[in-house]
Amino acid sequence: MSDTIRIYEVGPRDGLQNEAAHLSADEKLKLIAALARAGLTTIEATSFVHPRAVPQLADADEVMSRALAENGEQVELVGLVLNEKGYDRAVAAGCRRVACGVAVSETFSQRNTRMSTAEAFAACERIAERARADGVWLRAYLMTAWVCPFEGRIVPQKAVAYARRLWDIGVDELSIGDTVGHADPLSVGRLLEQIGRRTDMSRLAVHLHDTQVLGLANATTAISAGVRIFDSSVGGLGGCPFAPGAAGNLATEDLVFLAYKLGLGTGVDFARLWEAVALAEKLVGRPIGGRIRSWWEAHAPDEPQFSIM
Ligand code: COA
Ligand code: ZN
Repeated sequence: MSDTIRIYEVGPRDGLQNEAAHLSADEKLKLIAALARAGLTTIEATSFVHPRAVPQLADADEVMSRALAENGEQVELVGLVLNEKGYDRAVAAGCRRVACGVAVSETFSQRNTRMSTAEAFAACERIAERARADGVWLRAYLMTAWVCPFEGRIVPQKAVAYARRLWDIGVDELSIGDTVGHADPLSVGRLLEQIGRRTDMSRLAVHLHDTQVLGLANATTAISAGVRIFDSSVGGLGGCPFAPGAAGNLATEDLVFLAYKLGLGTGVDFARLWEAVALAEKLVGRPIGGRIRSWWEAHAPDEPQFSIM
């Protein structure tokens, strides 16, 4: 099994979509550049959804095309697209990597995208067909895989069946999401193991939120289950405007530190990652940072071994 993990940084998208502060395109580009400098090689840069639904990301077209011009050589930049219109916009901006999605919960699907899960599957199928024809890399999200903010606990068999269905559409990567951050470590490990049996584990990701402070515990059981791709957000920014109660994503710095403790490489330069956290904090104008922050700030000067992790 791989002794490295791949971090899929979602700060500029999941991280900013629910922030009170609306960043300018210039500020978003500075954040993306800082993340790239820290060694994050896959970044979900923005989301091509309706500008009225998520005004924070209304400048997706400009952000994507400028990010590609500035960082496209060293970073894989991904755009979230939940319908064909979003796909059209992403491709027009020059984007060659997109992420689509389906929720297991019918209620969440309606509230989030005004689509039933059947309609969301149909949208993903059309996006996948277009992506295949265009040679565009495609990730799919399975949202609310463990808990829905409206329906509560999700029946695991349903999540497994939906994951299988998304996988069979022919995606390059599948990310299983704890959208609201209410999953527990044992359920996370069990579900990922089950899904991993029917998919290619090396292309399976997990998307965790840290709402109930179990993000790292959930990440640990996901690693035990064999998952090596993790979504996380700089400073633990994040949340879904359509998932009441969802707090930030698992913080990238917490994930990098966990991987370091477990002997798994990430390629991230920890000192530079803190520069990105500081920048994100300045831009959103409120205190952020993962659980490791206070320890790091107190002890980092005595720990010169931390560089590329
Ligand atoms: N980008 C910009 N405009 C879009 C669009 C997109 N991706 N999708 C639809 N539209 C426009 C259509 O062109 C149409 O415009 P018109 O009235 O001027 O003709 C209008 O929106 C309605 O189109 P419709 O197909 O009915 O879409 P919708 O209004 O049901 O919106 C979503 C569907 C998914 C785009 C919308 O619900 C959305 O953006 N949700 C946000 C979800 C999200 O970001 N969640 C957090 C991350 S998971
Ligand atoms: Zn999320």
